Formats: sequence, C-alpha cells, structure tokens
Amino acid sequence: MTGRHPGGPEVFGPVDPPARLLMGPGPVNADPRVLRALSAPLVGQFDPVMTGYMNETMVLYRQVFRTGNEATFLVDGTSRAGIEAALVSLITPGDRVLVPSFGRFGQLLCEIAERCGAEVHAIEAPWGEVFTPDQIEAAVVAVRPKVLAIVQGDTSTTMCQPLEEIGGICRQHGVLLYSDVTASLGGNAFEMDAWGLDAVTAGLQKCLSGPSGSAPISLSDRAVEIVRARSSVEAGIRGDDRVLPPPARIRSNYFDLGMILDYWGPRRLNHHTEATSMLYAARECARILVEEGLEAAVERHRLHGAAMLAGVQGLGLEPFGDLGHKMHNIVGVQIPDGIDGDAVRGELLESFGVEIGTSFGPLHGRIWRIGTMGYNARTDAVLETLTVFERVLRIHGVSVPAGGGVEGAQAVYACAGT
Ligand SMILES: Cc1ncc(COP(=O)(O)O)c(C=O)c1O
Repeated sequence: MTGRHPGGPEVFGPVDPPARLLMGPGPVNADPRVLRALSAPLVGQFDPVMTGYMNETMVLYRQVFRTGNEATFLVDGTSRAGIEAALVSLITPGDRVLVPSFGRFGQLLCEIAERCGAEVHAIEAPWGEVFTPDQIEAAVVAVRPKVLAIVQGDTSTTMCQPLEEIGGICRQHGVLLYSDVTASLGGNAFEMDAWGLDAVTAGLQKCLSGPSGSAPISLSDRAVEIVRARSSVEAGIRGDDRVLPPPARIRSNYFDLGMILDYWGPRRLNHHTEATSMLYAARECARILVEEGLEAAVERHRLHGAAMLAGVQGLGLEPFGDLGHKMHNIVGVQIPDGIDGDAVRGELLESFGVEIGTSFGPLHGRIWRIGTMGYNARTDAVLETLTVFERVLRIHGVSVPAGGGVEGAQAVYACAGT
C-alpha cells in the first residue's frame, strides 16, 4: 500500500507477508521460538548481559559442532560471510587450496579461495555423486595443498559428502581441513573433533530453523594459530600489539578472525557492533537443537526426508542422484519431460502458498528440490506438501497415482511407528 501525497514522501504499510510453507532448499520457516528471540529488546554490546549471552552462544555451538574448540563463535552475515571469513583468514595469497567440488557450493569455495589469492586446484565429481576417500587422498598427494576446502551437504545437488575419513587423510599429509556445513548441520551427522576438522562454518536458515544472517564458526587450535600469525589489531584500539605489513596481514578487516576472536574472547576488543538480534536468534536455534538432542534431530530429519522421498516416488516421480549419499533434509526430483518446472513451482506458491526450489547450472529446469528441514521436518508439513504437489502436477498434465504421495509417506511413518 502506498500513501503518496503529491510532492510528499512515499510511505508504505508495515510488512505483512502471506503465510507460506517453505519446503525448498532453505530458507525454511523459522521456529516461533526463534522469531520471539529476534524481537527481544536490545542491550549494549559490552553490557555484561550481552557478553554473557555471547559466552553462552559459544558453549551452545560447541555442542552443536561437537567440538571442544574454544574458538567457537558467530560471524555476522549470511553463511557465505562465514565461508569468506574462514578462507580469507586461513589462506595467505599464493597458498595451494584443494577443493573437491560436487555442486554449486563447491564452486563457490573455489571462487572465494581464488579471491583470497589462493592457487586453487579443483577436482570435480559429476553432479549427483560424491567423492571416495581414495579419490581425495590421491588429489591431496598430487596437489600438496595447505588447505582442503569441501562442502558437506551441497544443496544444489542434494548430495552429502562423507567426511569421516577426510580429516585423517588431511592430518597424515599436514593439510588443514575446512568444511561448509551450512545446509547439512543439525540434519545429518557431523562430528568436528572426532572427524578431525580444523575449521567449519554454517548458517541458521536450514536445519537450524532460523533466518539467514548469522554464521556459526569453529576453529581448531591449529587453525587459530594460523589466523593469529596473520591477524593485526587495527589502529585506534591497538595496545602494544604488533602491526603486520599489508602482504602478511589478513586482507579483510571485517573478516579478520583474529580481531573477531579478540571481541568474543576475554580481551573484548571492539571490532564490529555485534548484531544483537541475530545473536539472540542464533543462540535460540542452538538451544532448540541442544534441547532436542543432536542424534534425535538427525533422526527426525532422516525420517521426514525418507517420507518425502517415498512420497515423490509414490507420485511416480524419479528422484535425482545417488540416493545412498542423499542429504536427509532435501530431495531432488526429476522434472518429467515436457513439464515446465517453473510453472509448477509458481502455481504451488501462488495458489497453495507452498514453496519448493529449482536448482542451478546444469540442473536448472531439470530438477525440483524439496526440503524437509529444521522446523519444517514435520509430518503435517510433509503430507501437506505432497497433497498440494499432487494437485498441481495434475493441473499441469502429469498423470500421477491418486493419493500416491501421501500414501508413500504414510507407509514410512507407519514403519517407524509414528
Ligand atoms: C551449502 C551452502 N553453502 C553456502 C550457502 C550460502 O548461504 P548464504 O546464502 O546464507 O550466504 C548455501 C545457501 O543455500 C548453501 O546451501
């Protein structure tokens, strides 16, 4: 609504978004508890209440990442802010970085590492597949990188790369292991310490049931050492800290993890102004996950993901990719020949308020992506999506078995006794 007076300011009504069921690759609907946390009153950034919340957030994310790393905190910004902070702080221009890439977000790691001045070596798996540990070890031996950067769950292809053995390979060859777990954390098993990762970053908008805008991060002591050697405290707050010349110093001020750690750690040195409301949200996301229990959350995502998969198969549709390595929280569905995938998505959204996704690059227009994650990994959300999906497919001329989607999903729930 626009109330425009001639020559006067342009005024709009308050935001009043329609009800949507977000069943795409993320963002998903935020848990109402997170929305309530977002509306809590602000406090100052050095108020003991605020620094207390910061400390609690660190404790909570250590449990979420399954790590004892002291350096576990938040980067303000969306998930790619966390990726960029990790890579720009770990990579010195000229360092060799190996990226085993199996989708769009592997390509993003290459792009960011290149911008950090790395000599990037990418190996590619066909979209819809993942790497074996042997393939990764062979590339490590050939490239001898300083950092191996890999996505755990690449939402663009729905594949989940097993990481269990990669940490051991990296340790053996003296390589730092970084992973982007934005899309998989909370919905698929992840063990930072047991699997030997040095750096990990995430986001809130997938299995953590929050909005995008905060990037939880954790660094091993080895990674902190590298960051500290390149970090430089800025003028104005510098005490007797040494000053590094530009080539040695981390190229970004905002993403200098050493300075961010000095803000989160006992020095409490001023850096950015912490995004208070997003910190409340991130803290609540972790609280929800830790209360539920990590194993229980992963099992919930496994169950509802399996129900959605059985549902799309019950509609006679073909899932995409290697199902043995599918992320629990998302399924790719091949768009039947002759069907306009975007028109189906548009109708789902406009007529039924249900959002599903398409994909990128070679998969754009070839697959839909349906998520069951975070707050939406629930029976009613799965059954509602399958019900309206069947209706819209029919409208668009796809011949689907009546009730086949809901029946397929319900068979999975019945088997699980839920
Ligand atoms: C695996 C993965 N990494 C990174 C991102 C980028 O996240 P953001 O848009 O929050 O920066 C996404 C977003 O979908 C993702 O799925």
